[in-house]
Amino acid sequence: MEIVIANESHFKYAEIICETIAESAKVRGTGIAKRTPEYIKQRLANGNAVIALDDGKFVGFCYIEVWGHEKYVANSGLIVHPDYRNLGMAKKIKKAVFDLSVKKFPDAKIFGITTGLAVMKINYELGYQPVTFSELTDDPQFWKGCQTCKNFDILTRTDQKMCLCTGMLYDPAKKQAAKEQKEDKLNSKAFKRLKSIKEHLFLKKKQKK
Ligand SMILES: CC(C)(COP(=O)(O)OP(=O)(O)OC[C@H]1O[C@@H](n2cnc3c(N)ncnc32)[C@H](O)[C@@H]1OP(=O)(O)O)[C@@H](O)C(=O)NCCC(=O)NCCS
Repeated sequence: MEIVIANESHFKYAEIICETIAESAKVRGTGIAKRTPEYIKQRLANGNAVIALDDGKFVGFCYIEVWGHEKYVANSGLIVHPDYRNLGMAKKIKKAVFDLSVKKFPDAKIFGITTGLAVMKINYELGYQPVTFSELTDDPQFWKGCQTCKNFDILTRTDQKMCLCTGMLYDPAKKQAAKEQKEDKLNSKAFKRLKSIKEHLFLKKKQKK
């Protein structure tokens, strides 16, 4: 198993990356934006993505996007092929893309939005903190990326203030605090409860419409 910085030689994986994302979105039924092979190829080519392979077989993928003139970077599109789940691969891929982000953009705040408990756990262990959307980039292009998520209407309805996703942010200026927190585990129960409250509030309203 290897995790490498992606390049053009990985274009052949663009289709399977998109298919795996689309299939997972169907199964999970919430909170994953779709991507096209062309979009993935751009990410593979620009030196800002990592790909995990098992003897040439696709295992997983994640990429960096730069926002607000490098003030922020997002680690997005995390996907692990179903054959390789629950083996700690997402943790390794996220760590690799996090290390690449810190190396290439040392002053940038690193953020992500997710409905997934696995991702919240991983982010928390890397030193991210849950934050409101107002702490994240206000770059409209970032939020446009949510258009293909089935919950986009919620984001629109709340004037981009909240959605089913939780925003999480790593601030390099608070690195020391993050290190101290590392041994600490995310309070999964609290996040499950928060998610269920949000679903109750937002999805109920949506159904009533
Ligand atoms: C979410 C996903 C990336 C996790 O990949 P994975 O390789 O199975 O995750 P890992 O094995 O590295 O697990 C990391 C942690 O999350 C936990 N976890 C994994 N899947 C989980 C799930 N479905 N629900 C809750 N926790 C989960 C693991 O137990 C582990 O926690 P621990 O450190 O306390 O043991 C993978 O299931 C996936 O690709 N899903 C579809 C796409 C997706 O949801 N992407 C995220 C979009 S924001």
